[in-house]
Amino acid sequence: TNTTIGIHDLSFATGEFVLPHTELAAHTGVEIGKYHVGIGQRSMSIPAADEDIVTMAAAAAAPIVERWGADRIRTVVFATETPIDQSKAAGIYVHSLLNLQPSTRVVELKQACYGGTAGLQFALGLVQRDPSQQVLVIAGDVSRYELDSPGEATQGAAAVAMLVGADPALIRIDPPSGLHTADVMDFWRPNYLSTALVNGQESIAAYLQAVEGVWKDYTEQGGRTLSEFSAFCYHQPFTKMAYKAHRHLFNTTGHDLDEDQMSEMLRRTTAYNEVLGNSYTASMYVALASLLDHSSDLTDQLIGFVSYGSGCVAEFFGGIVVPGYLEHLRTDAHRAIVHRRQPIGHGTYRELHERSLPQDGGHHLTPKQTTGPFRLAGLSGHKRLYETS
Ligand code: CAA
Repeated sequence: TNTTIGIHDLSFATGEFVLPHTELAAHTGVEIGKYHVGIGQRSMSIPAADEDIVTMAAAAAAPIVERWGADRIRTVVFATETPIDQSKAAGIYVHSLLNLQPSTRVVELKQACYGGTAGLQFALGLVQRDPSQQVLVIAGDVSRYELDSPGEATQGAAAVAMLVGADPALIRIDPPSGLHTADVMDFWRPNYLSTALVNGQESIAAYLQAVEGVWKDYTEQGGRTLSEFSAFCYHQPFTKMAYKAHRHLFNTTGHDLDEDQMSEMLRRTTAYNEVLGNSYTASMYVALASLLDHSSDLTDQLIGFVSYGSGCVAEFFGGIVVPGYLEHLRTDAHRAIVHRRQPIGHGTYRELHERSLPQDGGHHLTPKQTTGPFRLAGLSGHKRLYETS
């Protein structure tokens, strides 16, 4: 068939608070250049006590449902590696908060930061099968590392919601995909830990190896040539990683790289991530939002996507920006979401980091902190209680 399928709309949300890296550096004693230049991060989003992946996801998806309605949404896919339940899909709470129709399938997906891309690819398949349906793909995480660990400066939080359907208003996603899986222990989180374990330098090496793997497969599958792409969105655990990955892609394929051109292009994809921090599954799609919101006109241009999830699974795919997309952007809303965050000091940050929800099954209300549209009101009988603000 000639049906074009892709991303019809994209919207993101983040947490209530923001910790600037200058504030973190004042307490860790790390020279600020390491944060600002070395890893390329300026601040990190910190969710309030009454926020979690569900409240961020609902906040990200609400404007999409408001704009297009929910009549055609028959599937909700929520990718996360910081889930709130071992059994129930977080997307069901989002489905409820947004009053989506009962005739919907809802499921949660996991493979580290790659999960969002799995969700997008599965959605493309569902729409191919029935072009009248739309799929709401959500990717959302709160990234947490141990206090005073090297990973701490790369923490962050965000959720991205994408409406996937036929005749997309933003980006047409084209086959083939380049795929890569390898059994590595670069980053993981056992069920009994609330912070991730990581072999930092090994994780960077595994990511670069995966970039090589996906490009090789993409080429073997009959994909486009490197010079046909005008921009690349990389998974960004910290924004400098996009530069490392891009250099590696070009060097390993024997292509010359113009450093100025690279910086100009990548800077447009890192503008949001450098102030939000790592949002795991959402990160590459936040990079896409950043590219769309910070480029003058990308009509008909081919964008490359490099999705990486530790453990590890990676995928490369291409997408064409469709004519008329500029009218559908959410640039002002996205900037407002970034700028409305309240700065917090190091003490408040550590308190929020150390906080865990009561586990006694009793009735507990959470303090009202968020000014966002949805909040986690409390817990009762081991059930999370959500409300619309
Ligand atoms: N001014 C400028 N630059 C400075 C500096 C200064 N004063 N001090 C240090 N730097 C530079 C270093 O030279 C280095 O640059 P290069 O990478 O270009 O060599 C950079 O700052 C970082 O310094 P280190 O390598 O010494 O930093 P570190 O070992 O303390 O930690 C890290 C870096 C490994 C990324 C750590 O933050 C970490 O463990 N992060 C979490 C894991 C992670 O993000 N891995 C990425 C791949 S895995 C993935 O992608 C999945 C995922 O989302 C987690």
